[in-house]
Amino acid sequence: MIRIAIVLGSTRPGRLGKAVADWVDSRAKERGDATFDVLDVADFGLPLLDEPLPPSFGRYSHPHTKAWSDAVAGFDGYIFVTGEYNHSIPGALKNALDFLYKEWNNKAAGFVGYGSSGGIRAVEHLRSVAGELQMADVRAQVVLPFATEFENYRAFIPTASAEASLQTLFDQVIAWAGALKTLRPERVHGNEPGVAA
Ligand SMILES: Cc1cc2nc3c(=O)[nH]c(=O)nc-3n(C[C@H](O)[C@H](O)[C@H](O)COP(=O)(O)O)c2cc1C
Repeated sequence: MIRIAIVLGSTRPGRLGKAVADWVDSRAKERGDATFDVLDVADFGLPLLDEPLPPSFGRYSHPHTKAWSDAVAGFDGYIFVTGEYNHSIPGALKNALDFLYKEWNNKAAGFVGYGSSGGIRAVEHLRSVAGELQMADVRAQVVLPFATEFENYRAFIPTASAEASLQTLFDQVIAWAGALKTLRPERVHGNEPGVAA
């Protein structure tokens, strides 16, 4: 069974990302063609990148890096849930991505963005970051503008159109996650022999 992680990238108290990630997770669990888990960046307490060696070496020195690596490594694809901070992704999400390398390689990536303009500028940035990490980004994207998807800019009430685009996103991420399996060894994460730049 294909395994997909729903990565929640914002960490601030009162974040709207939690409601969005919970929605993605609840719809995901209604499907039978993959398994899904939420990876909440906030749960990992990552400091600003503090590994002495580049992540592509895969030789991690800190327990928080190893814990994040273990959590990320076992998935076949990722759905990133991101708000828009100054036309990009939250720094916490960028930092969490920067911590690892091989764990992301040859995996599928899909995006759910929210914000005044539906997070589209943040997702555009995230697509280029994902490319550098050798993730394959699917075309489908869930765009959640505050004006149509959030009552009073707070309560998340997804429209039928958002529901439909989420299903298309699942279809594409699951298909590419499966197709890319042939390029991946069984399990890749840091501190394993043979995992190096
Ligand atoms: C530091 C910061 C910068 C922001 N910049 C933008 C922006 O450039 N464009 C936008 O649409 N919304 C922007 N917003 C609004 C966020 O998209 C909105 O607060 C969203 O809920 C953030 O996600 P979160 O609630 O999960 O943290 C910004 C919010 C913060 C905190």
